[in-house]
Amino acid sequence: MKRTKQLIDYLGREYEKKTVKSRLMFKRATKVMVRGGSHSLRLWKPYPFFPASAHGSTVTDLDGQTYLDYWQGHYANLLGHNPEVIRQEMEPYLAAGSLHTGFESSAQIELAERILASLGQPGLKIRFTTSGTLASTYAVMLAMGYTGRHYVLKIGGGWHGSTPYLLKGVKFHPGRGFNQVDSAGLPPEFARHIIITRFNDPDHLEKTFKKYGSKLAAFILEPFIGVGGFLFCSPEYLRLARKLADDYGVVLIFDEVISGFRFCPSGLQRLYGVKPDLSLFGKLIGGGEAVAAVVGRTRIMENCERAGVSGLRVNFEGGTFSAHEEYMRAGLAMLGYLSSHEKEIYPRIGQLATSLRQGIEGAFAAEGLKVVCTGGGHIAVNGSSFFMVNFPEKDNISYSYPEDIWDPARSDVFLREEALKLALLINGVHVVHGGGCLSTAHTEEDLEKTIEAYQQAARIFKKFW
Ligand SMILES: Cc1ncc(COP(=O)(O)O)c(C=O)c1O
Repeated sequence: MKRTKQLIDYLGREYEKKTVKSRLMFKRATKVMVRGGSHSLRLWKPYPFFPASAHGSTVTDLDGQTYLDYWQGHYANLLGHNPEVIRQEMEPYLAAGSLHTGFESSAQIELAERILASLGQPGLKIRFTTSGTLASTYAVMLAMGYTGRHYVLKIGGGWHGSTPYLLKGVKFHPGRGFNQVDSAGLPPEFARHIIITRFNDPDHLEKTFKKYGSKLAAFILEPFIGVGGFLFCSPEYLRLARKLADDYGVVLIFDEVISGFRFCPSGLQRLYGVKPDLSLFGKLIGGGEAVAAVVGRTRIMENCERAGVSGLRVNFEGGTFSAHEEYMRAGLAMLGYLSSHEKEIYPRIGQLATSLRQGIEGAFAAEGLKVVCTGGGHIAVNGSSFFMVNFPEKDNISYSYPEDIWDPARSDVFLREEALKLALLINGVHVVHGGGCLSTAHTEEDLEKTIEAYQQAARIFKKFW
């Protein structure tokens, strides 16, 4: 019998003892901001710590506690926090004081050329914006403008940012599964026009296309689903998605905001060998700055400038800070470094993550508790740097679908999301969703400390069983 209330009270007390200055800072924050901040994933209970500095694999808070960080800037920091290689590249530009916003720049052209060249597919164009959310919004608008249709198909458990077009089927509901609207403030017809299909389920996809295919403007999916559980689609599923999209004249969108340049110096699509019509990139392509992009077939992208079936163009303006020269330079430094070091970077972080996943499962097993780590590699991918720690409620859960991760009848979601977070924080490790990703800054010694922290967490949990 789990005594969860006592467990979380104990963990909260231990955390508060170590983070006195952060508690005061948070009190100040709540006076001026709703719930004390701007992003709920950063506002865990009882309150977040506030970093004083962040370097490589670690973050140090106002009280001087240092944490090994696996959140790494919402998975954007593939090279860790404040990587030297990017700082060095940026310094001459910052020192010269010549960087500008509000104009076009050669840096933007170079970054566009680099991203398109990495995809190895002729006939593509790119447009930049400043967040993955905006990229997914514009991509859906492009698909609707191009096809003249107004329905969008997405995956249950898929997250594409807070865009009104896709805020359905993100959170799991025990009665309705992923078939529910996730936000207030949406016109009801928006919600009706978002259709949900099951992740990596070919039969469900075929049935859904049969029913809605001729109404669909787009099918959007993550080839590697992030919040849905760090799971890879099968190559057959992606090929089927491509075929069905072609058969029904639907725009196929791959959301590569997490997966882009994470598994190789290109999109994950390159490893799968399946070509979408539009792709979304974000997070690490900005080298720590606010860069996101929509990439796609010229005939669809051109709708930004040319009237489509409705007689209007798609008003895709990236925003005041889109393609800021500073961001473009940082993105170039990041992508340049990744392609010149790909042979050492990707296999190494993949191998480290494999030992971390095994180590964590072993650490819990040593205390007689079962956890299952998702995020592991896949036939199409040579090693994955992600890990998510799940607490199965039943013996036979295969962890293949987002519902395995988010249905409280299958996984103890509270333990993963809340208790494990605090239990690790008091042992010097910061995670989100029970895990996160590795960066090139993480060392084998960091991993040993991390596995030890998970074992300490397991020991604490056992006391409250
Ligand atoms: C797959 C995916 N798409 C889109 C987004 C939205 O990106 P952003 O947070 O930059 O708006 C995210 C954010 O986590 C994401 O994981």
